[in-house]
Amino acid sequence: MSGSAEATEAAGERLGATLGPGAVVALIGELGAGKTCFVQGLVRGLGTTVRATSPTFVLVNQYRGRVPIHHVDAYRTDSLTELMDLGLLELIGGEGVTIIEWADKLTPLLPPDAIHVHIAGVGDEPRTITIRG
Ligand SMILES: Nc1ncnc2c1ncn2[C@@H]1O[C@H](COP(=O)(O)OP(=O)(O)OP(=O)(O)O)[C@@H](O)[C@H]1O
Ligand SMILES: [Mg+2]
Repeated sequence: MSGSAEATEAAGERLGATLGPGAVVALIGELGAGKTCFVQGLVRGLGTTVRATSPTFVLVNQYRGRVPIHHVDAYRTDSLTELMDLGLLELIGGEGVTIIEWADKLTPLLPPDAIHVHIAGVGDEPRTITIRG
């Protein structure tokens, strides 16, 4: 349970601290649930010094932490082909950490060992964050 954006970010940071090369984090939650907020903590836990921003328009942001980090936002993608053309499978299969917002749009491309993060709740509601895998 997270009662604030700061608490959601802190939860992301704790997960980020545990991740190693090749990890894939699949984030699912409605518009405004706090996926990007969680990712901001996640990349900090991975040792970045810059603040993550939503890659909604460029689709993939890259950060350098303990390992290379790829931050994907699939919200605007219409097809799996488009994501594959962007090299998503190479990112997922690579040595970096790949973080995907709106991962439910590309379920068939996710590896079996992906870490799933569900964030439920929007607006002023407290969030329920479920981490699996
Ligand atoms: N407990 C909470 N956890 C996370 N964010 C919260 C919480 N309470 C309020 N908020 C607010 O909700 C908003 C979450 O926005 P954020 O961009 O992280 O969502 P998102 O899931 O990435 O949305 P989008 O689907 O548009 O990318 C922020 O403005 C944040 O301050
Ligand atoms: Mg977002």
